[in-house]
Amino acid sequence: MRRLVSETTLRPRQLILPMFVAEGAEAPKPISSMPGVVQHTRDSLRKAAVDAVRAGVGGLMLFGVPKVHDAIGSGATDDDGVLNVALRDLRAELGDDTVIMADTCLDEFTDHGHCGVLDAEGGVDNDATLARYAEMAVAQARAGAHLLGPSGMMDGQVGVIRKALDEAGYEGTGILAYSAKYASAFYGPFREAVDSQLKGDRKTYQQDPGNAREALREIELDVAEGADAIMVKPALSYLDVIKAAAETSPVPVAAYNISGEYAMVEAACANGWLDRQRTVLEVLTSIRRAGADLILTYWAAEAADWLD
Ligand code: PBG
Repeated sequence: MRRLVSETTLRPRQLILPMFVAEGAEAPKPISSMPGVVQHTRDSLRKAAVDAVRAGVGGLMLFGVPKVHDAIGSGATDDDGVLNVALRDLRAELGDDTVIMADTCLDEFTDHGHCGVLDAEGGVDNDATLARYAEMAVAQARAGAHLLGPSGMMDGQVGVIRKALDEAGYEGTGILAYSAKYASAFYGPFREAVDSQLKGDRKTYQQDPGNAREALREIELDVAEGADAIMVKPALSYLDVIKAAAETSPVPVAAYNISGEYAMVEAACANGWLDRQRTVLEVLTSIRRAGADLILTYWAAEAADWLD
């Protein structure tokens, strides 16, 4: 009876697995604050991607961990940079049956850890950053990414990326815009995941957790600039924002169940305080119930297995 009248579906195809690949790594390296998640080698990434696809996930979101960082994040636009190499690997391995996504952001590649390039005063220079994103986007499309995820919250990033892709002949490459991204404490474990160099915070470009209306305005701008899907991030503390976005967005809504949300549950489960499978499925179901069409989650492959 419960199955018959259930209002919310949770299917493997709605789940996207974020994955990390480290340049020159010889063995997968565990991320201590995200038990079960690793920085992959090129080889282990390919294998884990194939496993996730076999489990039925709808997409993979790739993050690169370069060996060398510099002021402008050169590795991001280098065709031989870790992320672009890994994108080519995945595209060769998986073809077009699974949506291969790339994080289109500089923070993993910069030596100051910010999502853009800096001006003379050390602040993030919005427009100079846009030029780097355009270049990065084209490199990622060339490497085989189907869908790009600009996550830097620079004003105008979606429009600039769309234009650059079209001009380079990549009209078919889509944009999943991180539209409503909050300056959240829950990103903590991600910093370890990508060996982040960041000191300070991202409050000059990410949103204030107290603001909801602002999220809807950011979404509207991104849709007008050509976003094919939009995202709210983090997920659990922002279910109201997801719901508001789902009620008005003309394009699919994604939610990112981020590193700190993952770590919280894993820590409690490791202590025996929560039933892991029930908790994970309840978390994911609640994000779907709020209105997210797609969920980025580090549990994607495992949850897909359970749901099958
Ligand atoms: C920025 C980016 C971040 C995450 C995804 N893309 C970090 C940040 O904005 O500080 C966080 C993902 C997570 O915490 O799981 N490239």
